[in-house]
Amino acid sequence: MAENRTFTMIKPDAVESGHIGAILEQISASGFKIVAMKLTQMTQHDAETFYAVHKERPFFGELVEFMTRGPIVAAILEKENAVEDFRTLIGATNPTDAADGTIRKKYAKNVGENAVHGSDSNENAKIEGDFHFAGREQF
Ligand code: PPS
Repeated sequence: MAENRTFTMIKPDAVESGHIGAILEQISASGFKIVAMKLTQMTQHDAETFYAVHKERPFFGELVEFMTRGPIVAAILEKENAVEDFRTLIGATNPTDAADGTIRKKYAKNVGENAVHGSDSNENAKIEGDFHFAGREQF
């Protein structure tokens, strides 16, 4: 993925709570352009593959169970300095540590059910975007 793109998921907790619209509104208002998007649900195999880098961590099973429990919104976003700026917009992994006004501060329930995902590097943004979207779905 180009250096001006990142990958995000609105996670099952935020979808269940009816926050898709508000989160997309904040993303758009912050200057990100949506270049791919869909409502989808990850299988256990999908989640284990997507989060394979975390497989030795104690919360891995909980993370996979959470991310497969309902639909997510997957999207690729475009903006200059997208990866870093999006991580700033969503805030810290644990909402108690997240800055005021960030998406996680507003919508996350706890460190596991934390409303949104944002890629942590340009390399992973490309891998994660290509995991969820075929080339013809990326505009
Ligand atoms: S990050 O983004 O990689 O720097 O964050 P990290 O703290 O390393 O967490 C990696 C992903 O694991 C999720 N996570 C957890 N899930 C369940 N329980 C606990 N305790 C927990 N801690 C972290 C966290 O939300 C990250 O998921 P993504 O989808 O990358 O945001």
